[in-house]
Amino acid sequence: MKKTYLVTGGAGFIGANFIIHMLTNHKDINIINLDALTYAANLENLKEVEKDSRYKFVKANLCNIKEIEDVFKENEIDYVVNFAAESHVDRSIKNPTEFVKTNVEGTVNLLAVSKEAWENSKGEFKQGVRFLQVSTDEVYGSLGEEGYFSETTPLDPHSPYSASKASADLFVKAYYDTFKMPVNITRCSNNYGPNQFLEKLIPLIIFNAINLKPLPIYGDGKQVRDWLYVTDHCRAIDLVIKKAKVGEVYNVGGNNEKFNIDIVKTIIKILKETVNEKISEDLIKYVEDRKGHDRRYAIDASKIKKELGWEPQINFEEGIKKTVKWYVENKEWVLNVSSKGYLKYYEEMYSKL
Ligand code: NAD
Ligand code: DAU
Repeated sequence: MKKTYLVTGGAGFIGANFIIHMLTNHKDINIINLDALTYAANLENLKEVEKDSRYKFVKANLCNIKEIEDVFKENEIDYVVNFAAESHVDRSIKNPTEFVKTNVEGTVNLLAVSKEAWENSKGEFKQGVRFLQVSTDEVYGSLGEEGYFSETTPLDPHSPYSASKASADLFVKAYYDTFKMPVNITRCSNNYGPNQFLEKLIPLIIFNAINLKPLPIYGDGKQVRDWLYVTDHCRAIDLVIKKAKVGEVYNVGGNNEKFNIDIVKTIIKILKETVNEKISEDLIKYVEDRKGHDRRYAIDASKIKKELGWEPQINFEEGIKKTVKWYVENKEWVLNVSSKGYLKYYEEMYSKL
């Protein structure tokens, strides 16, 4: 039976990579991409599939319940994959309310409409349906120098962004506990790869370095993130939807911890060798730290490996070279994104550089 996926936030970084991954690897599926097209969205990300008869785009906002209901009325949905979110920590520090609206209220709206469409009058859910909430390792808070986040680590979010994602996770859990709605939650570490909006560390450093602009490092640059190439995250989500036990949470991570400063130096080295020898560590500029900055994230992904057989396929050395190459070669994409709003954001954020 042909399955229909409702992918929310599919015009953003991971959502777009997920849609392309799914349509490339599975013939017999339909995908509806529901996206409000915020500053972070870019339909250019989906150019290669926009004419595919299995793909449909709907401009709709998770904060508007009627718009979600219309999508469910017009389509028989089997799987919901909820990527849609305000995703940038720095923006959440400046404007927490937007994060409550989309990440919390939007997720609850989507849960409510999915339940309404999938549940019969006896409170039983249609066979085979699934609601997957794409969450983040940031809901667990911050680690010291040792240890890993497991699925049983208590939630301890610090930023308005991670607090909103943790709240959404608790609503998803409540729909499982109260209604037995078939849900799963994935909590992934930092993703990188093509199509990531320029405000995030890796694309920002690539873009600024190519343009010989300062490279802002928050605090001492010794914060640790656990990086995963985006298609490895997409493969994990694909597996969870089809194979996971209902109600379970899965951590996803690359076992690839790096200091921020080392990420920046790696990018400089690649660009110096391949693009312009003027690109050097002299561009690095230490700036004021992010408020409440989490020190270290590290994921224990043994559950998804053991239960679902997932393994990352792209190692960091290969992934970062591919990513840098993508931004160097896709000048038009970069120009489009930078002129649409990134440069204004950058000037506001880093005006003192
Ligand atoms: P992104 O910011 O690149 O994209 C978010 C997308 O959601 C955009 O297309 C935007 O238009 C859409 N959107 C925002 N508000 C909406 C609304 N109210 N209604 C409908 N659409 C809306 O984000 P991303 O980096 O691709 O992250 C996707 C998801 O994965 C998020 O839920 C994020 O919390 C989670 N996540 C991200 C990472 C990461 O490293 N980027 C890691 C783990 C988990
Ligand atoms: O861990 C998963 C999370 O990863 C996702 O849930 C978020 O949606 C995603 O944005 C990302 O959050 P981070 O805050 O870790 O990502 P960001 O790229 O903003 O920053 C990565 C690290 O680099 C962080 O320690 C802050 C630092 N940084 C970031 C920027 C933008 C800098 O030092 N300088 C910068 O200019």
